[in-house]
Amino acid sequence: MTARLSSERDAHVASAAAHAGAATDAPEKCFVTTPIYYVNDRPHIGHVYTSTVADVYARFQRSRGKDVFFLTGTDEHGLKVEQSAEKKGVEPQSLADENSAYFRDVMERMNISFDGFIRTTDAAHVNQVKKFVELLKEKDAVYLGQFEGWYDEGQEEYYTETKAKELDYKSPISGKDMVRSSEENYYFKLSAFQEQLEKLHEENPNFLTPAARRNEMMERLKGGLNDVPISRTNFTWGVGMPGDEKHVIYVWIDALLNYITALGLAEADGEGTPGEGDAAMRRAAGELKQYWPASVQVMAKEISWFHAVIWPALLMALDMPLPERVHAHGFWIRDGKKMSKSLGNFVDLEAIERYVTHYGLDGFRYFLLVEGPIAGQDANFASARVQEVYGTDLVNTLGNSLSRTTAMVNKYYEGGAVPSEISETNGGERVVFPGYDWPALTKETADEVARCVENMELPRAAAAAVALVVKVDLFITETEPFRMAKDEAKKEELAAVLYQCLETLRIACVLLEPFLPNKMAEVGESMDLGEGTFDERVRWGGLKPGSAVKKMAVFPRVEALDEQGLPVVA
Ligand code: MSP
Repeated sequence: MTARLSSERDAHVASAAAHAGAATDAPEKCFVTTPIYYVNDRPHIGHVYTSTVADVYARFQRSRGKDVFFLTGTDEHGLKVEQSAEKKGVEPQSLADENSAYFRDVMERMNISFDGFIRTTDAAHVNQVKKFVELLKEKDAVYLGQFEGWYDEGQEEYYTETKAKELDYKSPISGKDMVRSSEENYYFKLSAFQEQLEKLHEENPNFLTPAARRNEMMERLKGGLNDVPISRTNFTWGVGMPGDEKHVIYVWIDALLNYITALGLAEADGEGTPGEGDAAMRRAAGELKQYWPASVQVMAKEISWFHAVIWPALLMALDMPLPERVHAHGFWIRDGKKMSKSLGNFVDLEAIERYVTHYGLDGFRYFLLVEGPIAGQDANFASARVQEVYGTDLVNTLGNSLSRTTAMVNKYYEGGAVPSEISETNGGERVVFPGYDWPALTKETADEVARCVENMELPRAAAAAVALVVKVDLFITETEPFRMAKDEAKKEELAAVLYQCLETLRIACVLLEPFLPNKMAEVGESMDLGEGTFDERVRWGGLKPGSAVKKMAVFPRVEALDEQGLPVVA
């Protein structure tokens, strides 16, 4: 049974490697993940933010023609869930069902384009976790030993004496005292991977981004690695240790493995994959295996140790390829303080719903993306900033430019027929205006946006696209098409100005589509945004003269809200 698993696994690894190297016509695979969220809490802005960031990346890669699989889900085992359920007098499974549904609903509500939603209580996940742990035992990466250490009960995380002392024996997350804990446990031989892990981070500066997180990680690595206990006996809500069921597999091992169990990597072809109830997951058996290794795994910084040290070590022990990149962004904070249950300062689901109702799904999403803690810094959530960003970039810039341009086209050309920038009187050349080489400007911006999204510099990507729109406004101010319209001799110039405005706006909309997918679908109904891959769509000249554009009013002006997302009462 286990021998069969090893050879199957080797075959998967081999086929993944072949896939990576093979020159085929099949689109490149791209696997994007978010953390799986704990079900002992309701979703809040932090979860929505990470999923939105991953969503932009996934949408962008799809637009480039890649074959994307975007995974999210819920982490449902562990002491915390068992305790919360007990307090509520319900079974852990029913608490998990209830809260997992909240996460799934909010991700659907936010139009997060996930392809799979994994739950660690899915039978197919549980079965594969057992198989992987068995394989780790077989590979001598797991042994039974006695453990004593400092335990953060809230985070379910052990600390070494040095680290615990540094933290004053208090949880860095909840501030509660750590407890001295001793137990017979199964251990993962993390220490055996010290050298390989150091090498990984040294040789791949982009394995963990941003750089601040990588530096931290390398520093901590230098402190030396201890083996980590990977089983518990103080609770039962989890996956039983194969062959020794009084032990429950540590929730982090169970959780990290989701990224490969979701793809069915420990399944024989033909067995189910987790999330079978999920329409998007109903793929031909074995097909999902091809998506490993992940292109990017997105999360916040507090779990970068698990993802940039423990996770690669587990994969190394399993002889499996490592993810290409782990991106650990900062935290949303409020009034300079971490959002927490005890402070009650979360931007919670209800507040998110109020912002979304007021600013539109994309209005709020856009704010999260351009103001969010995408890199090393934390970001302060303030209602006034939502209003400012929405007003500046979306109402006054993009919305205004679209409405102004489409209104002129509809005023000067019957049925809003797109004019042409080609001069008939000048040998079929494009009519050009000094300082506005639009084909070059749009190409530069598209390259910049693509580069930034690849690097997870999302605010910068959006800023580049918005700057292009600002340039369109400047162009209108300088060329004054409304004056040209009064002069029959300027007919060709007027047509060229308006074509160039429309075409540049079309390209800007394509660039902003991953940021504003819902609004851009709306814009697409009033103007042809083009078809094909990203590269094809951002090419100058896609908009066909003679096709119709409708007048647009995309982002309505709205009043500011208070800090809770409620209307301001005068
Ligand atoms: N279940 C683990 C992850 C296991 S992954 C194999 C977990 N779950 S969690 O529900 O606590 O979610 C943590 C993640 O939610 C963070 O890493 C981040 O992606 C997101 N955020 C939670 N709070 C956040 C902020 N205040 N700000 C930004 N994102 C944060 O950890």
